[in-house]
Amino acid sequence: MSGIQKIGLFDSGLGGLTVLSALNKILPGVPKVYYGDTLHLPYGDKSDAAIIGYSTSIVQFLKDEGCQLIVIACNSASAAAGKALVEQFPELTFINVIDPVVDYLAGLPPQKVGLLGTRATVRSGAYSSKLASVTSAVNLQALATPLLVPLIEDGFLGTGIETNVLEHYLKDPSMSGITALVPGCTHYPLLEEAATSLLKGVQWVDAPAIVAKEVAEHWSGEGSAEDVFYLSDRTDNFLRLAKTTFGIDADWELKLLQE
Ligand code: DGL
Repeated sequence: MSGIQKIGLFDSGLGGLTVLSALNKILPGVPKVYYGDTLHLPYGDKSDAAIIGYSTSIVQFLKDEGCQLIVIACNSASAAAGKALVEQFPELTFINVIDPVVDYLAGLPPQKVGLLGTRATVRSGAYSSKLASVTSAVNLQALATPLLVPLIEDGFLGTGIETNVLEHYLKDPSMSGITALVPGCTHYPLLEEAATSLLKGVQWVDAPAIVAKEVAEHWSGEGSAEDVFYLSDRTDNFLRLAKTTFGIDADWELKLLQE
């Protein structure tokens, strides 16, 4: 393990790369280690116990790699495992992807805001309960949209199919009258074009930028290095999408932490 301080990020797959990309805009060159748990994707359909188990193994690995600041770059893991991770690793600093967005929403004028997320995130009620503890002015309505992650991970972005599926979800009565929409899954920022074409005049909340700003405020390390990438299962499809969607043409090292 080198003595350089590093930021660790993890997600079930590609989604956390939306946070990594936003982070690279404001903290370029800062050493980062990214772990994509593709073997266990999607997290959003797993139990809290399973998500806690996967997340704990990953954080232990990132810690062993020298990461002191961990970005839980997955809403499902933030919702299901965030508290357990903070308790299990008191020596590390954690940034989850929910709290900074809740703080941002709390500063908005009174309005109805929609949030799309995985089943695990919506089931947790994490966004609504955290927001309700600071304001009652913003009416947040969360909707589980489980088909969207598989569509993105299977490379359906840009086919129009993702727009049709999103349109179906946005017809849910809970989304009627919203004036802002939160991508409450780190995969969903990739749907910005589709969402804004369907919801004219509705603000698309730039969640990765909000989270990246929070990370930068907690980062005091020095030194620079290339980002390092790990996967629990490596497929040609994943490597292709990482390259075409995020321009990441790295060596993704296979690192199985848990069957
Ligand atoms: N990107 C993740 C999230 O923010 C997980 C998606 C999934 O694996 O279901 O929830």
